[in-house]
Amino acid sequence: MLRRLNPEQPESFAFTPENQAWAEAQMTKYPEGRQASAIIALLWRAQEQEGWLTKPAIEHVAEMLGLAYIRALEVATFYFMFQLHPVGSVANIQICGTTSCMICGAEDLMAVCKEKIAPAPHTLSDDGKFSWEEVECLGACANAPMAQIGKDYYEDLTEERLAWIIDELAAGRVPTPGPQTGRYASEPAAGLTSLKEYEADKSPANASVALAQELGDTVKRIDGTEVPLRAPWGDAGGRAAPTGQASRDELLGPEGPTGRQGGRRKGEGPAPRDRGEASDKVSEAPGEAPGSEATGRPAERAGTAPSEDTGAKAEEARLEADAEGEDTPAPGAPDTEEVKPETLDAPRGDKDDLKKLRGVGPQLERLLNEMGFYHFDQIASWGPGEIAWVDNRLKFKGRIERDDWVSQARDLAKRN
Ligand code: FES
Repeated sequence: MLRRLNPEQPESFAFTPENQAWAEAQMTKYPEGRQASAIIALLWRAQEQEGWLTKPAIEHVAEMLGLAYIRALEVATFYFMFQLHPVGSVANIQICGTTSCMICGAEDLMAVCKEKIAPAPHTLSDDGKFSWEEVECLGACANAPMAQIGKDYYEDLTEERLAWIIDELAAGRVPTPGPQTGRYASEPAAGLTSLKEYEADKSPANASVALAQELGDTVKRIDGTEVPLRAPWGDAGGRAAPTGQASRDELLGPEGPTGRQGGRRKGEGPAPRDRGEASDKVSEAPGEAPGSEATGRPAERAGTAPSEDTGAKAEEARLEADAEGEDTPAPGAPDTEEVKPETLDAPRGDKDDLKKLRGVGPQLERLLNEMGFYHFDQIASWGPGEIAWVDNRLKFKGRIERDDWVSQARDLAKRN
């Protein structure tokens, strides 16, 4: 597809002071002489500020990075993410037209866009609120047909659903992204065929949807006031995040990447939102879309097990925090009388890999072994008193119940 600059261009471009500061901070992320590596971030910021990428903006970014204009133009014209023509003030709707989506109805979706927005792509609707275009595969083929709107994917679309989404956006509401048929993620449309044991554990929305809801800036324009980052690694309030392990823990929460999606437990209310307002405006068609509750932390992608490495690091951070006296009892942790469980002086033959328990990394496994626990059947036999005994010695009150080690151990013991 030919990607050309719009024939009509503004006279000039300048970042807002906040965005200029943000862009300069981005450049400091790279070693001296490698500032060109920041090009995508800067072009993207310019687009977020203006809505589309103008020639003066590309020139400005090239100048900031000490690049020849043609180098920046190459990047801007290569990637679909960069809009080279004016887009709707509310949203530019990108319909995937590649094989899976085409077979599943992309052309019908484009017909909706033609009718509701404009007959031709890259054309503004009469009210200037919308534009649309066909794009190549966006990698959500299992949820075809789909569209990207702003930063989010709307999947399993039908003509009616897309028309409804456009109407909602026009009315100032942001429909919940993700699958639009009630499907959780990209599991078989008829329901799970495996890993069913984890179904009860899942949070109301998959990780991508939860993240979109938490950030709440899905189709918003960034003019430098909504997200006044002083440094690219700071949080949404402009505060620089601490470096090292502590920041990982802050970002991932005390459960780290081993926590359940969204970091919430069954029976808890929605996590507090502290960023953006659009998430409060998320809307749903009754009875159709997935749950609308925002979740607390986007810790992991749906169905993705944490790597041993990241799990171990998070566990290490938790242990360090604990050693410093930052005990984090789980809300509602039982205040039960301790009962010492039966322990072993040594494993019965080969010891079990206790790291298979969610929430247990190498360090916790070592501690458990030191206490005399080597086998899943030992943990499977714990009652509330035994849990309290171990909990107090691990100094992670509530962790065993929170991650439900006993049930997990029961399942794993059966498989042994
Ligand atoms: S074919 Fe549409 S997302 Fe891949």
